[in-house]
Amino acid sequence: MAARKLLLLSQYSSAHLRSIGRSRGWTRGIGSYSSSSVVDEPVTPSVKITDTQLLINGKFVDAASGKTFPTLDPRTGDVITHVAEGDAEDVNRAVAAARKAFDEGPWPRMTAYERSRILLRFADLLEKHIDDLAAIETWDNGKPYKQAAEDEIPGFIRLMRYYAGWADKIHGLTVPVDGKYHVQTLHEPIGVAGQIIPWNFPLLMFAWKIGPALACGNTVVLKTAELTPLSALYATRLLHEAGLPPGVLNIISGFGRTAGSALCSHMDVNKLAFTGSTETGRTVLDLAAKSNLKPVTLELGGKSPFIVCEDADIDKAVELAHFALFFNQGQCCVAGSRTFVHESVYDEFVEKARARAMKRVVGDPFKPGVEQGPQIDIKQFEKIRTYIKSGIESGATLECGGEQYGSKGFFVQPTVFSNVQDNMLIAKDEIFGPVQTISKFKDLDEVIRRANKSRYGLAAGVFTQNIDTANTLARALQAGSVCINCYHVFDAAIPFGGYKMSGIGREKGVYGLNNYLQVKAVVNPLKNPAWL
Ligand code: NAI
Ligand code: MG
Repeated sequence: MAARKLLLLSQYSSAHLRSIGRSRGWTRGIGSYSSSSVVDEPVTPSVKITDTQLLINGKFVDAASGKTFPTLDPRTGDVITHVAEGDAEDVNRAVAAARKAFDEGPWPRMTAYERSRILLRFADLLEKHIDDLAAIETWDNGKPYKQAAEDEIPGFIRLMRYYAGWADKIHGLTVPVDGKYHVQTLHEPIGVAGQIIPWNFPLLMFAWKIGPALACGNTVVLKTAELTPLSALYATRLLHEAGLPPGVLNIISGFGRTAGSALCSHMDVNKLAFTGSTETGRTVLDLAAKSNLKPVTLELGGKSPFIVCEDADIDKAVELAHFALFFNQGQCCVAGSRTFVHESVYDEFVEKARARAMKRVVGDPFKPGVEQGPQIDIKQFEKIRTYIKSGIESGATLECGGEQYGSKGFFVQPTVFSNVQDNMLIAKDEIFGPVQTISKFKDLDEVIRRANKSRYGLAAGVFTQNIDTANTLARALQAGSVCINCYHVFDAAIPFGGYKMSGIGREKGVYGLNNYLQVKAVVNPLKNPAWL
């Protein structure tokens, strides 16, 4: 339904949209943003791309078909390089390697301490290569270099050390039972894990997937996103340098409909983990059900409420709400994309949110001080602009932005809508871009009801200085994460996942281990009643 409506909106001519804007007293692209190209002379990244093949059984190899596909620089739309394009045959080769490594290889059989040491050595190597990894990530994805180098890659390293620490602390229980039995549980790895990741946080998603799987002794076939295949290949080369045996982690670059669905349907894959859109998550679950009923964890979309209460410090709330939405070009599953503001502070909040968005520094993500780079590709760029048109058409007030930023690449002006009603598409669908939507509320019961009226339930933000309000909202909101007076806190130890259609299961923290373990109950009779 939503998709059909969007299609219709995208058919409006720009003249029609301009007339809608004029009739409401706006011009298109509100604000004094630069209209020249923001990347006439893109910074040349210092890193040399060397890893472009598939990684199967510890070796870089071409696709069986010999095919390759280009990966693009979202600053310009230019080709960075071509990478091997894996499909079903390559997935078969990778799964066979992972199967052999699990059934016969050293990884599940070595001591957990030794596994832990390899993962720790990997973390040390990552630390030495932060500059290259961050450059690749920025080049392939378009995110600010500083964010990659100072936030995400340190987060990746922290997560590997966190799970390295768990490897030798995974153990079962001794279970007291009625009758003369000794009962214990063994926590065993599941086998071959198939993992599929998206393009918005390529290395973090890679870490969240492989960290717990490897720590528990599983082997893995991971498909990267076709838009960002490069950084995981570089990192996996380092993991082999750290001593990972061949076949334990295999990387397939390729497309969802070919390589992705082959992995989901494979009869020799014992578990699937997926992050991406809710629509594709449904397909992944379906393919798992139709093949060997492998268990599936899903991290999907969101439309997370960010609630600013009447007692909030407005300046801090404005800054945090801005960060909650605009971080990573708005391409976050947890983006605080429904900003609810109490009526008593609403006007002040809207004015300050607009001013903050107008100050946001958009440009070449390699340049210091740039807060916002380009969107990942033309498809996302157009999807976002279609939603902006829909917001204007449905009567929300465009406070600023709304247009392409510059004339090249996939940059979007930081955009703020106020006066947003819950039934508008921009308040219901995941826009996945730099578009903040602000609505007014009167009391807590009302905002709880409205915040929970969504098919999603990934995260929520609460801004208040009142502990009772915070406690009430933390319990009432249907979301896998509730952040109080903060947002986007992704420490390795904090569990992450969604209520409702935002997903199944939890990743990270101790909860993340459960996805990669199965429990075996071992029962044997006790022979000597004297000691019972
Ligand atoms: P997507 O969900 O289609 O892609 C994510 C991953 O799934 C990619 O690796 C892709 O190759 C793979 N995939 C696609 N079709 C598949 C299939 N049939 N079987 C197995 N794997 C498959 O997302 P896409 O098209 O890149 O973005 C569309 C929208 O999804 C975005 O606008 C955003 O709303 C949402 N999204 C949410 C993310 C999140 O973090 N929750 C991440 C990326 C996108
Ligand atoms: Mg790219």
